[in-house]
Amino acid sequence: MKSAEAQRRINKLRKLINDYRYQYHVLDESIMSEAAADSLKHELTQLETEYPELITPDSPTQRVAGVALSKFEPIEHSQPMLSLNDVFDRTELEAWIARIKKLLPPEYSPEYFIDIKMDGFAAALVYEDGVLVRAITRGDGRTGEDITANVRTLESVPLLLRTDLKDPTHQKFLKGKTEIRGEIVMYKKDFERLNTVRAKAGLPLFANPRNTAAGTIRQLDPSLVAGRPLRFRAYDLLRDDTKEVPTNQFAYQVLNDLGLIVNTQSTLVSSVDEIVRFADIWEEKRNNLPFNTDGLVVKINDREVFKRLGVVGKAPRGAAAYKYAAEQATTKVKDIFISIGRTGSATPVAVLEPVVVAGSTVQMATLHNESEVMRKDIRIGDTIIVHKAGDIIPEVVEALVKLRDGSEKPFVMPKECPECETKLVKLKAEDAVWRCSNDQCPSRVQKRIQHYASKGALDIEGLGEKNVVALLDSGLIKDTPDIYEIKKEDLLGLDRFAEISAAKLVNAIQSKKTPPLARFIYGLGIRHIGTQTAVDLANHFRRLDTLGNAKLAELREVEGVGDVVAESIVVWFEEEESQSQLAKFRRLGVWPQDVKTVGGALSGKKFVVTGSLETMGREEAAEKIRSRGGTFQSSVGKDTNYLVVAANVGASKLAKAAKLGITQIDEAQFMKLVS
Ligand code: IVH
Repeated sequence: MKSAEAQRRINKLRKLINDYRYQYHVLDESIMSEAAADSLKHELTQLETEYPELITPDSPTQRVAGVALSKFEPIEHSQPMLSLNDVFDRTELEAWIARIKKLLPPEYSPEYFIDIKMDGFAAALVYEDGVLVRAITRGDGRTGEDITANVRTLESVPLLLRTDLKDPTHQKFLKGKTEIRGEIVMYKKDFERLNTVRAKAGLPLFANPRNTAAGTIRQLDPSLVAGRPLRFRAYDLLRDDTKEVPTNQFAYQVLNDLGLIVNTQSTLVSSVDEIVRFADIWEEKRNNLPFNTDGLVVKINDREVFKRLGVVGKAPRGAAAYKYAAEQATTKVKDIFISIGRTGSATPVAVLEPVVVAGSTVQMATLHNESEVMRKDIRIGDTIIVHKAGDIIPEVVEALVKLRDGSEKPFVMPKECPECETKLVKLKAEDAVWRCSNDQCPSRVQKRIQHYASKGALDIEGLGEKNVVALLDSGLIKDTPDIYEIKKEDLLGLDRFAEISAAKLVNAIQSKKTPPLARFIYGLGIRHIGTQTAVDLANHFRRLDTLGNAKLAELREVEGVGDVVAESIVVWFEEEESQSQLAKFRRLGVWPQDVKTVGGALSGKKFVVTGSLETMGREEAAEKIRSRGGTFQSSVGKDTNYLVVAANVGASKLAKAAKLGITQIDEAQFMKLVS
């Protein structure tokens, strides 16, 4: 090949590889498989090896990690990288807005550009004529460190800004110096994966995605960085001539056009109500975001006004971080006890000095299992960090070892069940969980009854933990079937009940004597049977007796039932205890309805619901789908038939669904299908 010909081919390859990167990382779409893109990169590398004079620093081959540095060079920022003042609630938000309005003409009503605040590591990227020349950490805001070699390994950072822009007026950003600021984050799923790999290799685990991102980017050896999944998400665009970027909203449009990832959730609003609504929505849905967040960033949209408002200390007046209630706090471990679950699992639970986390008081936190306690070395008397997100069970993150005074007591896993003194066992040697194997263990019985009465199972109103404990303590019941023998007069003898409440509970129980088969199967509390498996089993076997007599091979024919689940079902039905329970149910006239018409209208159809529906919660939607024979899936897959799209749904999810050719329906259309 002649040099000129090679140059043409190289240019074409670079363009296509860059397009692939942009489509994949920025638009969440894919124009070809990863293998095909790798193959193109391979060809480009070969050509560049043959014609080394044609290599340029912006070539996609130049992402490969360079040599390790001995230290990072300090670099002064062109403009300070500021931090933000925090506001924690509506009142503080209003106070901030009132303060800035005082500094602005009375007739001016500001617009706010709001975005999710990402929990990562800030960095500035400097482009000269569209080519990445430098990446700098925030440092102290004035001077950062040169992390160019590391940042070059991030696929989400364009080495060359996109040249075929959607809006030709953006071309000016490809000339001279353009600085792009943003957050380097590690996605939650990548973090989990990384830790799983480390656990398998016997390496110490990382604490959280943010520290891992920060620690990684500060490694002197770029090859280490290249092996860790970091992403850059942009939030700011700087030019020497500030008029070129009149608003923050415009900055995001340009950033996206230049080939950077920006948060699609960001939006322009003009009132406190809208800011608070956005905050509430994303506080609730933050688990759906790929990265961690601790609030939102609110900025005056007009950058001229923003600039005029000035800076106090290190924070601009024209922007604020609206923070969610902290999800972590520190407190002391008063004790560690063992909680025995429905299936006998013995879980160490820390009793804490009460502390407010994410808006509610936490007094207990799970320690998961013995090896977790040992790994984290949590002792009675330790000061610990406790984490709670939304309605997730609080967790002990770590012990603050430096605060120990020697009086702390290490935890010793008991050999026997604290409730019934049965020896604790492991079902398999490699299991992390110890179990109480006594089916009649008081704790197991209590939780079994609670499970039977729970929302997803028989849904018996009024039969929650407190009442179940009271009924067991009084000796009125000994196991689940006994609840059907309770009479109003029996309850009146207990402190907790009066005429009306007693009648209500008895009615609630009696109204659930012929439940749908799926609910009953789930309610039996057989290990590994969740709500969806219960539905699949009910639809397949139609009668409880048929399910009870099914052989392993027949069970495995059911979709979603593998060896473990099949075996668990067979074992359950073989146990004498289960048989006597079923006999008692039957004697009392309690028996699930046979499934007559399998499926119904939505038979075989698979649904994903994205966003929050206005007329019902997710569980209710799932129930409606299942009761009509459909399947409720938690994420979009190749086999998904319908994507139900609620309000406030991100564009990337929709684009993915559109690409997979999934039919999208709105809430009204969904309601028609399930009515
Ligand atoms: S805009 C004047 N937008 O939050 C600073 N910052 O306390 C304007 N951050 O260190 C920053 N997500 O790195 C902005 N969507 C977002 C952000 C964001 C995270 C970080 C930023 C900075 C800190 C501000």
